[in-house]
Amino acid sequence: MARLGVNIDHVATLRQARGGHEPDPVAAAVLADLGGADGLVVHLREDRRHIQERDLTRLRDVVPSSLNLEMAAEEAIAAIALRVRPDAVTLVPERRQELTTEGGLAVAGHEDRLAPFVGRLRDAGIPVSLFIDPDPAHVRAAGRVGADAVELHTGPYANSRRPDIDRAFDALREGAALARQLGLGVHAGHGLTYHNIRRLTAITDIVEFNIGHSILARAVLVGLERAVRDMRACIPFTAGR
Ligand code: PXP
Repeated sequence: MARLGVNIDHVATLRQARGGHEPDPVAAAVLADLGGADGLVVHLREDRRHIQERDLTRLRDVVPSSLNLEMAAEEAIAAIALRVRPDAVTLVPERRQELTTEGGLAVAGHEDRLAPFVGRLRDAGIPVSLFIDPDPAHVRAAGRVGADAVELHTGPYANSRRPDIDRAFDALREGAALARQLGLGVHAGHGLTYHNIRRLTAITDIVEFNIGHSILARAVLVGLERAVRDMRACIPFTAGR
């Protein structure tokens, strides 16, 4: 059975939209844990558009399962990771203008820069995963730079239809098999939904799925009726107008 990591960045996005205190990603983390999440995932972006450094410190204190920090391979964020000590780190590419992480990390051709970066986190006892496209060149390079795991980018699979979806699925299956052969842990994520996850669970080399948007989108809808009821109950009925 594979693990489920729940990405709660969107909770912080909603909070930042008003600049106040709610909804609190720490409360979301506790609820996700109660719901059976095997771990929590947050992305501390360079532009701090959702998760803040303070959230990370608070999450470190309360997350009882596993805290996975997604981050760019940049010195300033590495210093924070080394201070907060998440249970795992996932290195992702990051561009300010993107809506969400778009492509996988270019590992092949960047081994000289990535190997010492990965090494420093691992020496501090933090396992490192690399978010990559399921391209054999990047999978092999992930092995060469000493990563513990790869997270295969499922975006192209999630966003395509037949026959492209079959090619995207095959690429994930083959990428997962190669990564496992190389002794790397195999994770997968991006764009996964309650529908497209089913087929992927047949790839038994994948030991962890990291999912955010779809879970938070469902939470808004399944929680809305109760939230309106609760507000309705706060407002006394008045007779007439
Ligand atoms: N994995 C990685 C590396 C990501 O960057 C993201 C998006 O933050 C996810 C998984 C989750 O993607 P989604 O929100 O589409 O489920």
